[in-house]
Amino acid sequence: MTTAETRPAPWQTGPYADALRNGRGPLFLRRSDGWLLPLEVERWCAGPDRADLTVLERCRGSVLDIGCGPGRIVTALAARGRPALGIDISPAAVAHTVRAGGSALIRSVFDPLPREGGWHTALLMDGNIGIDGDPAALLARLTSVVAPAGSLIVETAPAGVDPDLDERLRVRVDNGTAAPGDAFSWARVGARALIRHGRAAGWTPAEQWTAAGRHFVTLERAERTEPEGRAERAERVERAVRQKRTARKGRRP
Ligand SMILES: C[S@@+](CC[C@H](N)C(=O)[O-])C[C@H]1O[C@@H](n2cnc3c(N)ncnc32)[C@H](O)[C@@H]1O
Repeated sequence: MTTAETRPAPWQTGPYADALRNGRGPLFLRRSDGWLLPLEVERWCAGPDRADLTVLERCRGSVLDIGCGPGRIVTALAARGRPALGIDISPAAVAHTVRAGGSALIRSVFDPLPREGGWHTALLMDGNIGIDGDPAALLARLTSVVAPAGSLIVETAPAGVDPDLDERLRVRVDNGTAAPGDAFSWARVGARALIRHGRAAGWTPAEQWTAAGRHFVTLERAERTEPEGRAERAERVERAVRQKRTARKGRRP
């Protein structure tokens, strides 16, 4: 489990914090074999684009943006008078969001969160389904964050990428000049793989769409024929978090 004490430093300092402060990249997630996944810092520091607007129009009620970065989504929702909170482990990201007029907390998604179980819409944008490199654990965790009738909007791997892509990576944040940060776990997931993980965690797919080459899936809390009891649900979530904590301990040098 990622907590305030164990959260990965690479998002908190170094090239990522510098890029957010400057409002620009270049910035990448670099795999050990040299493969690069661009981090679109300029887009994240700008206002919502056409694809973001398709997400904004689907947000219902209170909105939690997980890994909000510099906060373009929560800021846009706040400007529309909508209740929205961003959470991010990066102090630079949260400071940027608050300066821009949004609400945000320095918090890991695996930490205790405000209004757990009460959020009407949760967002995992810009590849954030990759957080901590374990989509199954993240999706299980979010069943205890989102309200029973709520939804989770996930941006998957873009249109044109294999929808069955289900990849675990060890990456470093790299700007091509400074020394890359420490390695940490990340994941990339196509739409079909996301839906498979979602169903296993108790989510039902409700909608999929592509906008400006980006692909999104809305998941809703699954209706069960036999309603899951509070104790059963708590046990399932606790099991996922425990597995995650054990895996994290195993990875520590
Ligand atoms: C790929 S970036 C996406 C940025 C973003 N959605 C935006 O609008 O700028 C991943 C973000 O997730 C944050 N993050 C990483 N691990 C996290 C965690 N465990 N809980 C919450 N946020 C996390 C990082 O600090 C970073 O801002």
